[in-house]
Amino acid sequence: MTKQDLLYEGKAKKVWTTDDANQVIVEYKDDATAFDGTKKGTITGKGEINCAVSTILFQYLESYQVKTHFIQRLSAREMLTKKVEIIGIEAVMRNVATGSLVKRLAFPEAQVLEYPVYETYLKNDALGDPLINEHHAYALHLAKPEELRAIFRLTGKINAILRSFFDRRGMTLVDFKLEFGRFQGEIILADEISPDTCRIWDQKSNKKLDKDRFRFDLGGVEKAYQEVYERVTAR
Ligand code: TMP
Ligand code: ASP
Repeated sequence: MTKQDLLYEGKAKKVWTTDDANQVIVEYKDDATAFDGTKKGTITGKGEINCAVSTILFQYLESYQVKTHFIQRLSAREMLTKKVEIIGIEAVMRNVATGSLVKRLAFPEAQVLEYPVYETYLKNDALGDPLINEHHAYALHLAKPEELRAIFRLTGKINAILRSFFDRRGMTLVDFKLEFGRFQGEIILADEISPDTCRIWDQKSNKKLDKDRFRFDLGGVEKAYQEVYERVTAR
């Protein structure tokens, strides 16, 4: 598999074309951004950790028949994936109230949600990734009803699978963001699943082990990512 041209550069990843028109190489960067790209920095070792953690979680989900864009890990910070057409929606599932849910609806911070909360956001930094409902998604021609239903169903299934995965490793999966894409007529999981896109707390202490340490300058960012990596890889 040869890496060809830079197809796209995002905030945390680069995407390269390959000699196969249906496959791309995703390269994970150490660059970190928050608040729609307004806060910028570097988290040393993040690219490798996010590539490793995403690899493990994609493989784990595949073992439960969740289709993902993952094909194989190529190097420390590169993976080969299916070339999907990304749907411009961020699907968020929340098990514990924090972040924008607390800001918007005044849930008590860290309240465990009896009913997990599913939300969709428009993937648009210039607009600040606003919350949208299904009707906005149709009006914007982002996805068809059956596609949104598939995204909802898959996000719920992924939550059930990953919650217990993290639970068994002493961590709480507080919330996470997923992106999906179209590939050969199907909706499949794309993007990444990592401490950049999930909130993960230590089960005993509720210590934050994710990008919130960077967002809110809590210190120990690299150490927290390393901790997630070690616990995810430990059996
Ligand atoms: P929020 O509480 O800021 O809405 O974030 C919910 C979850 O989604 C949290 O795990 C962080 C993740 N997220 C992203 O990965 N990218 C984003 O652009 C946003 C807004 C949230
Ligand atoms: N808005 C996201 C965050 O706050 C990511 C980003 O904008 O870079 O984490």
